[in-house]
Amino acid sequence: MTDKKVKKIGLLTSGGDGPGMNAAIRAVVRCALSHGIAVDGIMRGYQGILNEEIIPLSHRSVSNIINRGGTILKTARSREFGTPEGKTKAVKILKQHKIECLVVIGGDGSYQGATTLFEEHGFPTIGLPGTIDNDLYGTDQTIGCHTAVNTALEAIDKVRDTAHSMERIFIIEVMGNKSGYIAAEVALGAGAEDVIVPERRFDYEAMCTRIREGYKRGKISWMIVVAEGAGKAHEIASTVTTMTGLESRFVVLGHVQRGGDPTGRDRILGTRLGAAAVNLIVRGEFGKAVGVLQDEINIIPLRDATHKEFKHLDEYRNLVKILT
Ligand code: F6P
Repeated sequence: MTDKKVKKIGLLTSGGDGPGMNAAIRAVVRCALSHGIAVDGIMRGYQGILNEEIIPLSHRSVSNIINRGGTILKTARSREFGTPEGKTKAVKILKQHKIECLVVIGGDGSYQGATTLFEEHGFPTIGLPGTIDNDLYGTDQTIGCHTAVNTALEAIDKVRDTAHSMERIFIIEVMGNKSGYIAAEVALGAGAEDVIVPERRFDYEAMCTRIREGYKRGKISWMIVVAEGAGKAHEIASTVTTMTGLESRFVVLGHVQRGGDPTGRDRILGTRLGAAAVNLIVRGEFGKAVGVLQDEINIIPLRDATHKEFKHLDEYRNLVKILT
């Protein structure tokens, strides 16, 4: 905590974009301005600091964006910033621009960068959880995951029609990096028959036995959701066909899950978290990550926010099997 009033902040989005990031940008900018704090937008994540792609943002700059997917600040993954020299250079440039605190909207990797700036360079940072993966501590949801799950469900509902009509097994690969959160939510919400996640060992033999038995009982289609961190859909499809003798197909949903208009929930989450980040800055608290836990704003040290496991993973996996 410090008594010195911050006059200007920098704001960037980093890593994979997520629907709702624009709502968070809008809230940070307008709340900061309402406290008399100027905001510089940094384009293309941490790389934008190094390239000095820094532009002042006004109330108007964030008009008409709350409903839009992606991020108006663009985003990127920066190798140069990942190096110690890159971080030293970034701090120098931020100071040259009279930026006194950096607000980072991003996921796991982006939080690690913000933690290092704060802990090793003494530069004030705040983390705002923006990733479809929902793999950060201190918040029940990250900005973007609600929309991503809905987008995946819409796509899977369509696949279900053809799976059912052609009596096929479908393996559907969803995003999530090293987390099975999206896969578990989507499997439960889509009424899938099985879900494969990176956090748990998966017994392919047992699944194929269930598939064979199901077909004997007259079950005509089978939908298996796999998290990208647990395996490749095309390999799993060929394993399943070899082990069961049944026809299978695969679908990789990919980046479609990151796009589209944010759901109401992601807009509201982004807005609440953006405002919470500015409140921290006004109070002179840095090195913190903002989140919402059980509908209350929750603040934790940035360094504690990374690598969360979905706490309902086993409950969801069991339900998927029971409800098959
Ligand atoms: O972290 C968000 C995410 O969409 C992950 O789910 C995925 O593994 C990764 O980003 C893909 O990144 P890129 O767009 O750089 O390929």
